[in-house]
Amino acid sequence: MPALRPFPILVALPLFGLALASVQAQDGRATSVMAYDAGTADVERGRAVVVGAFAAQPGQGNNAVTPPAGACFQCHGMDGKGDAAAAFPRLTDQVYKYLYDSLQDYASGARQSPIMTPIAKALSDQQMRDVSAYYAAQKDAPYGPSPQADPSVLQYGAAIAAVGHAPRGVQGCINCHGPDGFGLPPTYPYLAGQNAAYLEAQLRAWKTGERKGDGFGLMENIAKRLTDEEIHAVSQYYAAIRPRSVTPEQVEAAAPIVPLPRISAPPVGR
Ligand code: HEC
Ligand code: HEC
Repeated sequence: MPALRPFPILVALPLFGLALASVQAQDGRATSVMAYDAGTADVERGRAVVVGAFAAQPGQGNNAVTPPAGACFQCHGMDGKGDAAAAFPRLTDQVYKYLYDSLQDYASGARQSPIMTPIAKALSDQQMRDVSAYYAAQKDAPYGPSPQADPSVLQYGAAIAAVGHAPRGVQGCINCHGPDGFGLPPTYPYLAGQNAAYLEAQLRAWKTGERKGDGFGLMENIAKRLTDEEIHAVSQYYAAIRPRSVTPEQVEAAAPIVPLPRISAPPVGR
């Protein structure tokens, strides 16, 4: 294993990145966080959705469509570990608000997926909240094997994650996704340990305009400036690292810099 983070700048950048994230968050997102009522989400009701309760309630969803076959657990697992081979993303311990927003984006069409669009359309708003609370509360799913990437590819990916590519105006991913890619609640999802094929597919989807919905076009702007080689390298890198070296205390210590209300309920930290 090569030294993945040989850059002293990594020590200085996260704080800068948090300040940056806070400026961005003061725009529309902040309002939507304020308006967001997390108090009604329930992990146990979410579990019922994961095993297929939503499919038993035809006509209850946002758009009253016939629910598709397939309960969440069949692809994402009860523990949210996903399936790297099939590019089903890991949902375990993902940022709650991000999960909920993603389901909304699938239902509205801002995010297109032949699999997830009909599923999200079959969910009521309450079911989206509950199931997001459920997966955010799962903490212990095992990680899949790290990709067998060439060490030079991982090094390259680590450099993009840390400092981006200044000549093309790409900032380091850690500015928003946090040191070690652990994600920054309430908005920025984790990337560390997410499966490589899924990460790569998402970056390509932003590049081609198939994925929208992050409010500011932040990721679209970034992905469009990355080469295919860079997308591949940074995806391999994030799939290879694990967020565990960052303690909850460090997350807490970093959080006050972001001037957003912390989500106190559902009974999950993020
Ligand atoms: C047949 C397999 C399948 C089933 C069943 C399924 N998913 Fe998915 N899910 C996927 C795939 C594939 C993607 C990636 C789609 C894309 O490219 O955006 C995904 C993406 C997601 C995402 C976005 C994750 C991220 O990191 O952005 C969420 C949230 C999600 N699914 C939740 C659910 C929930 C909740 C259910 C049940 C109500 C469910 N899924 C059922 C396959 C599935
Ligand atoms: C300015 C802030 C910012 C920076 C810098 C940034 N991101 Fe993001 N990223 C976001 C936001 C916001 C989202 C959530 C988008 C949404 O809600 O749809 C996101 C989501 C993602 C996702 C989707 C995760 C998932 O589970 O589907 C990937 C992949 C990603 N970013 C990769 C990167 C990479 C690689 C870099 C560096 C080259 C990067 N990001 C830099 C803000 C940023």
